[in-house]
Amino acid sequence: MVDQPWWQSTTIYQVYPRSYADSNGDGIGDLAGIIDKLDHIAEVGFGTVWVSPFFSSPQEDFGYDVSDYCDVAPEYGTLADAEQLVEQAHARGLKVVFDLVLNHTSDQHPWFQESRRSRTNDKADWYIWRDGRGKGGRRKPNNWRSALEVRSAWQWSEERRQWFLASFLPCQPDLNWWNTDVRQAMFDVARFWLERGVDGFRLDMFGAIMKDPQFRNNPIKPTSGGSELFRIWRRDFTDNTDANIDLAHELREVCEEYRDPERVLIGEVFGRHEVLRRYLGEGDGLQLVFLFDFLMFRYSAEFFRRKISAYEALFPPPFQPTYVIENHDRTRSIDRLGGDLRKARVLAVMLLTLRGVPTVYMGQEIGMSNTYIPLRDAQDPIARHYFSWVPEFVSKRLPERINRDEVRTPMQWDGSSNAGFCPGGVEPWLPVNANAATRNVAVEGGDPASLLCLYRDLLRLRSECAPLHSGRLRLLDGLADGVLGYERNYEERTAVVLLNFSDDERRVRSRTSEMLLASDPVAHLRDHEVLLPPHSGVVLA
Ligand code: GLC
Repeated sequence: MVDQPWWQSTTIYQVYPRSYADSNGDGIGDLAGIIDKLDHIAEVGFGTVWVSPFFSSPQEDFGYDVSDYCDVAPEYGTLADAEQLVEQAHARGLKVVFDLVLNHTSDQHPWFQESRRSRTNDKADWYIWRDGRGKGGRRKPNNWRSALEVRSAWQWSEERRQWFLASFLPCQPDLNWWNTDVRQAMFDVARFWLERGVDGFRLDMFGAIMKDPQFRNNPIKPTSGGSELFRIWRRDFTDNTDANIDLAHELREVCEEYRDPERVLIGEVFGRHEVLRRYLGEGDGLQLVFLFDFLMFRYSAEFFRRKISAYEALFPPPFQPTYVIENHDRTRSIDRLGGDLRKARVLAVMLLTLRGVPTVYMGQEIGMSNTYIPLRDAQDPIARHYFSWVPEFVSKRLPERINRDEVRTPMQWDGSSNAGFCPGGVEPWLPVNANAATRNVAVEGGDPASLLCLYRDLLRLRSECAPLHSGRLRLLDGLADGVLGYERNYEERTAVVLLNFSDDERRVRSRTSEMLLASDPVAHLRDHEVLLPPHSGVVLA
């Protein structure tokens, strides 16, 4: 079709390896399991598989705490399996993106084990060590907070009688990227996988890597009440620093050593839109940054219109907005929609027809929902270590799940016991959702009215229809209340998308003559008028 870099028109499917498919019956998903299911991913029609970390790790944070970047945790398989995964994905025309955790390692990583031993060893400066303030240096070096906000990012080490920085969990010490040996070692990690054919990386916590070398305190964000209790620190000296933007360019240069195909860098970065945009530079930084506003969407035409309009202005072609509705950290979207599948279908039509790169989290395509797991049973370290004090009756009612286990339960393949994730009789690492008997790939694959078939139809349409694949986007004005509409234009061709977010039927005049897809069979186009049932979406041409 159109000549553009592959990543500009791809669609991303995120696999959380521990929960996707268990090939050896130990209750934990693995790489061989993912390989077995590549056909599913390719058949639904996704272009790229992003695999969350499977590297050697004590699994305190389920792989986001790496102890060897160039090997595979035994429960997930071997290095040969990782190589097979790349090869098998490519054989099916899929691109593969691995998850690179650059900001921190596990405290079990041999680098940190050495670094913590003394102030003078070879790796002494590989992590961010500081003397404390006050008598005996027992006061923290400055006010930097962990990403979880609730606590300081500084951890005391008795061995060195110094503090080390850990921007996420205490067991994940931050690497010192100002040290050129660290930088080279980590770039070599990227090269290690690029040489094995991976098509790029999702960059974990990328915004937090280069901290202020002067360790200045982050300023306090004024809050309306001005109460001490609720004061919040800005992250001027820890996140999205100029040096961090430079790092994006450097990492891109490493990727440029491996062309054909071009390798892609996708940043997990948080901040104002303008800040996020800086990571892309003039097309010589990261290629994509996740846009997380949709993770906590308000289901309304106005909300999405406002966001899309902002993203279109900030990421005009050839830049691409990267839309995310679900991932392994946040509440499942169907739960935000009160379980209403009609609404999930509207969101699917929107996500897969917008200009940009959509990401879909495993199970989103079948409408998997959160699986309630009480905090006391949590395996997620955030829930276990930081929020275990939250009373269950409160936690239960929070719209945002504290316990990330709830969105990481096993993928639902079929109606058998354990949903086809692992053999019956084996206990999966997290419980299977009770709705697996009916909400699963096998059942939905055979039902043309299912969410899964809608994803399949949308992805097919997106790849076949040039305007959806490569066209520009123009928001439509003057539509009925609760209706979001946009045009996608490519050369002389146009596709029109209309989405009714309201509880009532809507009628919209349209110059189009053909209905290419409808999320609701009642929707129709007659005499240039489109009838949209409540909570429905259509694609027209
Ligand atoms: C990212 C990951 C999350 C992980 C954290 C620490 O936010 O998405 O799952 O726990 O980084 O690496």
